[in-house]
Amino acid sequence: MLLDVDIAAKEFLSPDGRKTTVIGGLRFALARGEAGALVGPSGCGKTTLLRIIAGLDADFSGRVSLPRGSRLGMAFQEPRLLPWRSVFDNLKIAAPDASDAEIDALLAGFDLAAHRDEFPGRLSLGLARRAALARALAIHPTLLLLDEPLVSLDAALALELRERIARLIDETHVTTLIVTHDLNEAIALADRIFILTPRPTRVAATLAIATPRGKMTEGRARHYAEEAKAMISRLRAP
Ligand SMILES: Nc1ncnc2c1ncn2[C@@H]1O[C@H](COP(=O)(O)OP(=O)(O)OP(=O)(O)O)[C@@H](O)[C@H]1O
Ligand SMILES: [Mg+2]
Repeated sequence: MLLDVDIAAKEFLSPDGRKTTVIGGLRFALARGEAGALVGPSGCGKTTLLRIIAGLDADFSGRVSLPRGSRLGMAFQEPRLLPWRSVFDNLKIAAPDASDAEIDALLAGFDLAAHRDEFPGRLSLGLARRAALARALAIHPTLLLLDEPLVSLDAALALELRERIARLIDETHVTTLIVTHDLNEAIALADRIFILTPRPTRVAATLAIATPRGKMTEGRARHYAEEAKAMISRLRAP
């Protein structure tokens, strides 16, 4: 396994001093080259989970195993580019070992060549998302973590970026974990979907998407969506 996650508990202290368990008994694993999607309701703990996997939050009980020498690329829910650095410099700072030509090629691959010298504040959300994705890839990650990469984009842009991400997974075989609350996005991108419960969140069910990303038809996608919805409604049943 490339990524093995077993989180017994993650708690937050609320302002009044009470403890809230956000994650409880959550386990899943990803094989090398596999794309997994974590699908769960808003506020269930998806970003908290990604931060733990990325090593940004060590305050939990349990364990996250990654092979030694793993390189993590992460695109946050908000693009979080450095505001006073150009798009080019944002990539260069993230990947100082990459040559300028390599960075320019990466930007060109995301149709960002024309925006290379702009500050992030001038970019639309769609462009900023692409820049954040390019930045996550600049270090040639062995694990790519994407937190709601398509949220709040308009439908056409979301579809365009979704296809880009699908191609990227197929061409680079990077092990990928996508967090989303959109089932269709998960079906289009993942090999396996992990369905999360509300807080304290854990993986309640796993749905294998056997259809290759490039071969997904509307009919097949509808079939997977029905299956996932049935799993989710069983969760809600008393
Ligand atoms: N630093 C923190 N301190 C206290 N509580 C927090 C902290 N970060 C997150 N939480 C709480 O933990 C819960 C899970 O938050 P998280 O951001 O992980 O959810 P999410 O599934 O990513 O939500 P969304 O779908 O809205 O992005 C929420 O109730 C949130 O208020
Ligand atoms: Mg979140």
